[in-house]
Amino acid sequence: MRMRKKKNGEARIQALSRLLLESPAEIDNLRSEGRLPCRLEIGCGKGDFAVACSEKYKEQPYIAVELISDVALCAMEKADAAGCENIKFLISDAKKLTEYFQKGDVSHIYLNFSDPWPKSKHYKRRLTYRTFLEIYKSILTDDGVICFKTDNVGLFDFSLEEFEASGFELDQLTRDLHASEYNGDNIETEYERNFSAKGFPIHRVEARVKKAESTEQCCPPQAENAE
Ligand SMILES: C[S@@+](CC[C@H](N)C(=O)[O-])C[C@H]1O[C@@H](n2cnc3c(N)ncnc32)[C@H](O)[C@@H]1O
Repeated sequence: MRMRKKKNGEARIQALSRLLLESPAEIDNLRSEGRLPCRLEIGCGKGDFAVACSEKYKEQPYIAVELISDVALCAMEKADAAGCENIKFLISDAKKLTEYFQKGDVSHIYLNFSDPWPKSKHYKRRLTYRTFLEIYKSILTDDGVICFKTDNVGLFDFSLEEFEASGFELDQLTRDLHASEYNGDNIETEYERNFSAKGFPIHRVEARVKKAESTEQCCPPQAENAE
């Protein structure tokens, strides 16, 4: 995301440091207080979705991850203005998530309009590339879900293949979210508003880790003539 450098950006972030997730110990504390799993958004941009989604699910902690500090600042100032109490921002790269989170810490991962990295030589940078999916698997609850939406057909098709190859099952797949039955609960992002205003349909899918098929029988066979 391109953004003009913010004036006094670092000082403004520090002024809102209560909204920062600064160390893995904060997640450890939530875990030991029984307040996990949380919801996690990766690449929150300017924060419209993060503010609305954290408000909608007030009972759960919400962690918004953003790589670029000036972009995160914009989202933090929105969350501050909205009085959000359950949200924290992690200014970091998604590839570092396992420094903070353990298996079962996250119920939902939101990937909204992730950078498409269209050049084929950059495919490993896409946030739905299999190495990222393995990271997400290692922090999700057993029934946890990745909610992915994008306007970009190439990225969507690539992601469906990566989800399948990494053992996810797909649900609520649509290539035109706003015209679909799944739009009722939708929270729009900044990118979504811009792209749909230009006539691009929004693609969305939910991905859950496939449960290993049980080979055990639920009841032992009855022995005939058992006394
Ligand atoms: C195209 S923007 C979309 C912003 C927002 N989600 C929306 O839909 O309006 C993608 C955002 O993801 C962030 N991002 C890209 N790679 C990331 C990474 N590896 N870890 C965390 N954030 C990342 C970018 O800095 C950018 O703000």
